[in-house]
Amino acid sequence: MEMKNIYVLLGFLTLVSCPTIYFECGCFISESINGFPKANCKSSDIDIKCLSHQELETLGLSGNRLNETILSKLNSTEFEKLEHLDLSNNMITRLSSFKFNTMPRLQSVNLSHNLLTEMPDDPCRIPFIDVSHNNLTDMHSLVVLFRTNAITKGNPFLCNCSSPTVKRLYTTASHSKLKNIECILHDSDQPKPLSTQCHKEIEQNQTSLLESIILYCIQYFNSITLFFLIMFVIGVVLLCKKIK
Ligand SMILES: *[C@@H]1O[C@H](CO)[C@@H](O)[C@H](O)[C@H]1NC(C)=O
Ligand SMILES: *[C@@H]1O[C@H](CO)[C@@H](O)[C@H](O)[C@H]1NC(C)=O
Ligand SMILES: *[C@@H]1O[C@H](CO)[C@@H](O)[C@H](O)[C@H]1NC(C)=O
Ligand SMILES: *[C@@H]1O[C@H](CO)[C@@H](O)[C@H](O)[C@H]1NC(C)=O
Ligand SMILES: *[C@@H]1O[C@H](CO)[C@@H](O)[C@H](O)[C@H]1NC(C)=O
Ligand SMILES: *[C@@H]1O[C@H](CO)[C@@H](O)[C@H](O)[C@H]1NC(C)=O
Repeated sequence: MEMKNIYVLLGFLTLVSCPTIYFECGCFISESINGFPKANCKSSDIDIKCLSHQELETLGLSGNRLNETILSKLNSTEFEKLEHLDLSNNMITRLSSFKFNTMPRLQSVNLSHNLLTEMPDDPCRIPFIDVSHNNLTDMHSLVVLFRTNAITKGNPFLCNCSSPTVKRLYTTASHSKLKNIECILHDSDQPKPLSTQCHKEIEQNQTSLLESIILYCIQYFNSITLFFLIMFVIGVVLLCKKIK
């Protein structure tokens, strides 16, 4: 009797301490430390419908030569508990939207090493997204990622330093979660940080910046303020001359 109890106890302990891994839906599914299932799929017959019944927290679909068909499949199947979606190393060329309506708890999406050439038009509300090493060239794509923790390195972004959007990115990037924007000036160049690439061209136009400040003043302050401002400037100039 006592021996039997020990066996039961041992059996229970192995169940608790060893992570259980089983093959289901064409994927290896394991329980993570906090008890939530995690699927790792590397096969040609991944069953999305079947996966949706596993209450997954993490779904890894990396390295399966998948194209955008997978996105519509995922977007039409309920994944109520899913928080992390890994679609890296596939052949996805198009993402029509950042809204994955079937995944209300989605926290991170990894789209690294795909063939994306542009971002959707809607602002990204997924807290974390990795779109590194794709084929993104237009820096306007970055605007929709402005409020997200996004990794964008390894894309052939072209620095269009005279574009208003790029200027805005240049001046505000440090305030956004979007860090380390890199772009190329000429076709053959390696990507370099936007802050150094557009530095010369944007800072050179200091005079036009001064012009725009004066225009701003004229537009938004009344003429009395402007009068005192001009008097102040003349005063300073006269004072400087006197000191000389
Ligand atoms: C995506 O891949 C599937 C299976 O390989 C193929 O049948 C389908 O035509 C592809 N779709 C697109 C849009 O390339
Ligand atoms: C998912 O479907 C919804 C509505 O059916 C659509 O608005 C959204 O753009 C789709 N998302 C993706 C990533 O395709
Ligand atoms: C996304 O996937 C790539 C390739 O699998 C990996 O190297 C990278 O670390 C992942 N990104 C994050 C943020 O985990
Ligand atoms: C990247 O996109 C450009 C057009 O924007 C295309 O000419 C090129 O072949 C693409 N590269 C890859 C690796 O798909
Ligand atoms: C700087 O000013 C020149 C001449 O006004 C203009 O052609 C150029 O696009 C401007 N560059 C930037 C970065 O604003
Ligand atoms: C750069 O931006 C300017 C202003 O938005 C636009 O007119 C021009 O076509 C852009 N150039 C390229 C190469 O995208």
